[in-house]
Amino acid sequence: MTLLHVESLTKTFAGLTAVRDVDVDVTDGEFLGIVGPNGAGKTTLFSLLAGQLEPTRGRVVFDGQDITGWGPAKVASVGLVRTFQLMRPFESMSVLDNVAIAAHGRHRSRKAARRAALEVIDRVQLDRYVHSPSGSLPTAGLKRLELARALALEPRLLLLDEVLAGLVPAERAPMIELLREIHADGMTVMFVEHIMAAVMALSERLLVMAEGAELALGDPHEVITDPRVVEAYLGEDYA
Ligand SMILES: Nc1ncnc2c1ncn2[C@@H]1O[C@H](COP(=O)(O)OP(=O)(O)O)[C@@H](O)[C@H]1O
Ligand SMILES: [Mg+2]
Repeated sequence: MTLLHVESLTKTFAGLTAVRDVDVDVTDGEFLGIVGPNGAGKTTLFSLLAGQLEPTRGRVVFDGQDITGWGPAKVASVGLVRTFQLMRPFESMSVLDNVAIAAHGRHRSRKAARRAALEVIDRVQLDRYVHSPSGSLPTAGLKRLELARALALEPRLLLLDEVLAGLVPAERAPMIELLREIHADGMTVMFVEHIMAAVMALSERLLVMAEGAELALGDPHEVITDPRVVEAYLGEDYA
């Protein structure tokens, strides 16, 4: 079943087309990797899908419902949730409170939101930091907190924007394993990432973007050997 249908999605900022005529369908349960050089429009694509930006043109259909132009809260309420490349937790608040605020989107009572938050914190293995101020977390912890806040909204489609960025190689493997588990539990994922080893380990299909547009889409191993894709990366310092 198609969970997300994206049609001719386009975003222009004062003359610069950041996302150009993107067409993509995401199947329920799929793990879709998205790569592309800096400035390719990956983050803008997520902002268009998750409702932080309104498209200049095109359509977003989620679970059969046209959600084009909806705001982020309404989009999240139907199950489409993104993480942010730049994490922005409330630093003086505890990990628990940060996640509980997100969980309030799904649970009315304070008690139920806390219970749900604790479950998610356990899931991302932040349990030993549960009462620590978020500002005291190391980068790897902040990445997990960002993931926890997204999971607390109980998404059906999770958009992950460079959740491995800033992690040292030894911290990447456990994060990749966690993402694999979340996917194995049934989550549909769109995964923007620069770390190619992670992209190749997790992605069932790969979308390559360049200058706002789709350059290639398909089997990850076929796509990365596509001469147009190789060309787009020449000169890029690629992980
Ligand atoms: N709010 C904005 N206003 C103007 N230009 C923007 C804005 N957001 C992104 N851009 C531009 O759009 C292009 C795509 O950016 P982005 O989506 O962040 O790329 P990526 O995430 O692939 O690195 C870049 O040229 C960027 O400078
Ligand atoms: Mg980006």
